[in-house]
Amino acid sequence: MSQSVQDSTAIKAAVQKHYGDAITLAATKSCCGTASSTCCSEPSTELTLHGAEALATLPEGVVTASFGCGNPLALASLAPGEVVLDLGSGGGLEVLLAAQRVGPTGYVYGLDMTDAMLEVARGNAAKVGATNVAFLKGEIEAIPLPDQTVDVIISNCVINLAPDKGQVLSDAFRALKPGGRFSVSDIVFDGELAELPVSEAELRAALSWAHCFAGALTMREYRTLLEAAGFERVRLEVTQRYTVADLQSYSAGAELLASFPAETVAALDGRVTSCAITAWRPA
Ligand SMILES: C[S@@+](CC[C@H](N)C(=O)[O-])C[C@H]1O[C@@H](n2cnc3c(N)ncnc32)[C@H](O)[C@@H]1O
Repeated sequence: MSQSVQDSTAIKAAVQKHYGDAITLAATKSCCGTASSTCCSEPSTELTLHGAEALATLPEGVVTASFGCGNPLALASLAPGEVVLDLGSGGGLEVLLAAQRVGPTGYVYGLDMTDAMLEVARGNAAKVGATNVAFLKGEIEAIPLPDQTVDVIISNCVINLAPDKGQVLSDAFRALKPGGRFSVSDIVFDGELAELPVSEAELRAALSWAHCFAGALTMREYRTLLEAAGFERVRLEVTQRYTVADLQSYSAGAELLASFPAETVAALDGRVTSCAITAWRPA
């Protein structure tokens, strides 16, 4: 799925606004600012994704807001000394957890295009006293690092947001060292969109891009783009399936989705998924 330049600019501006507002809100909710907080009204995503034990390692005052859809850190099996890059690092939670795992001989870069996210992430790094992390401003389509710099690329629910995913995956390949690995969580459609009793354009129009559904690739497209970028040993594993109710609660066009015939709605149930995706740059 490729977008015109005009569409791409509008999509990125909408994504930046959405996540800039979201982190600003999370950072002002002092009750959500610590790992041990219990006064948020709902179980927090970060607790679900990373577990209380990992979050408890972070000092009080660190903004632990997470907007992810999986746990790429569990997938990546980081080792001491490794250099890691987190595409779309948000408030920095995963960068800080990764920094603990790679230790003082390793290094973790976070990359994000949204100023409010970078501000919170850098503030968090200062509170933790992390000396082996850096948060870079930039786009994941043009990673601001030299060729063959990192051992591992992680990312949590970000690549679906990029208008040109082929470019993102090619640049990820470029930034990885030979033998390096790509371990990400992302939203992916299971099966072919052409099988559904609704056109792809109608379906995408009824979903929200900023909430990570409208821009999702199919599993086949993801695999094809990774292999075209040069990756091998590509693996996609479903970790969660979303119901139509989930799609509706995060949808720009919830009414449009509800107006689809019952047969279409039934066919969509469980077709949008979170996937754990791994691939390797040949050694
Ligand atoms: C769904 S949030 C996920 C943040 C973080 N990974 C987490 O799990 O909390 C998406 C993040 O990706 C960033 N982002 C989206 N598209 C981007 C792009 N093309 N280049 C750089 N950052 C991007 C947004 O600013 C936002 O911080």
